[in-house]
Amino acid sequence: MPIKVALAGVGNCASVFVQGLKFYSGDDYKGLWHSNIGGFRPRDVQVVAAFDVAPSKVGLELSKAVFAPPNVARRYVPLSKSRVTVEPGISKSDPAPHLRDSKLVRSGSEEVSKKLEEAEADILVNMISSGSAASSEEYARAALKAGCGYINCTPSLVLRNNKIVADFQRAKLPLIGDDLMSQFGGTVFHKGLLGLLVKRGVKISKSYQLDVGGGSETQNTISEDIKMAKRDVKTGSVVTEVPYKFETIAGTTDFVDYMGNDRTSYFWFEGSSFLDSGISVDVYLRSSDGANAGNVLLDVVRATYRAMKIGKLGTMGEICAYGFKSPLKPVPFEEAYTKFAALYVR
Ligand SMILES: NC(=O)c1ccc[n+]([C@@H]2O[C@H](COP(=O)([O-])OP(=O)(O)OC[C@H]3O[C@@H](n4cnc5c(N)ncnc54)[C@H](O)[C@@H]3O)[C@@H](O)[C@H]2O)c1
Repeated sequence: MPIKVALAGVGNCASVFVQGLKFYSGDDYKGLWHSNIGGFRPRDVQVVAAFDVAPSKVGLELSKAVFAPPNVARRYVPLSKSRVTVEPGISKSDPAPHLRDSKLVRSGSEEVSKKLEEAEADILVNMISSGSAASSEEYARAALKAGCGYINCTPSLVLRNNKIVADFQRAKLPLIGDDLMSQFGGTVFHKGLLGLLVKRGVKISKSYQLDVGGGSETQNTISEDIKMAKRDVKTGSVVTEVPYKFETIAGTTDFVDYMGNDRTSYFWFEGSSFLDSGISVDVYLRSSDGANAGNVLLDVVRATYRAMKIGKLGTMGEICAYGFKSPLKPVPFEEAYTKFAALYVR
């Protein structure tokens, strides 16, 4: 039985996810973190529906839509024609800044629910733009109505909405999020270095992570309200690695169009050790957003489906803590990985 996934948002992250399913459709697992999660291989995952609101994508067959502008993710593999056509999505009154001058192609929650049912989707993966919190919540309601699990990759805090959480619990459906944590992106790198400094007894006083990138997601993120909300989520995630208070911020600071789907993250750490002597670290990390999301997203989809099918929704916390920056119960990432791996990595 394939794991039937629907996508909300056919942007760069979705593009690389769809390409990943093609790339790993055989037995060559080059670059894949976990070939088997909960008994499932990547080839067991199938995209059965997709939604967007951008006029450049709605109505296109999925293998074309994933390369339609303004997407800038690389073409890693040639895609064959898909049976999925991108359908109009839900848009409340919160369009992403990069879409504000476009005539959006919208649909209602009822229609999206109906499409999910027709496609027999098991899980709806939300990969719409940052800052569209009301739309992200409405997709959760549409998924619930259709009997689908919901994975929220966006920084909109859907799991902080108690009513939605209670409704999913009642329906015995998984609700996973918030804000996907990339495999080796700025957040986990920042957390790792903080953890190392703590383990080696350095008393950290200050740190920052400043990101510069391209792509529509970064373009949206530099709008002031979204920037501050994303900064809160990222900063909230990195501080879980340090058992005392210190000064830190983590977030996107600028958009550079020609960086495409790539990002450079600059880190600085200051602390003290023996005789209060100073220690200072300056490093940077270059990564590609879409590709960096692929492994974790593929793991989370397979684990969520497994939890759903064997009635182990009690392990949702472990899935969220492993794959997301803002789970309801954050734990240091090594502990989160160990618990997730014990449950799902085969
Ligand atoms: N490594 C990563 O790429 C990564 C990591 C963590 C979180 N995320 C989150 O995943 C989401 C997607 O990231 P991305 O880089 O693919 O962004 P993107 O800007 O490339 O794509 C977003 C897509 O969503 C569409 N969209 C916007 N509003 C919509 C709506 N209401 N309904 C349907 N579609 C809508 C846009 O048209 C676009 O196609 C973002 O919220 C981002 O913060 C990504």
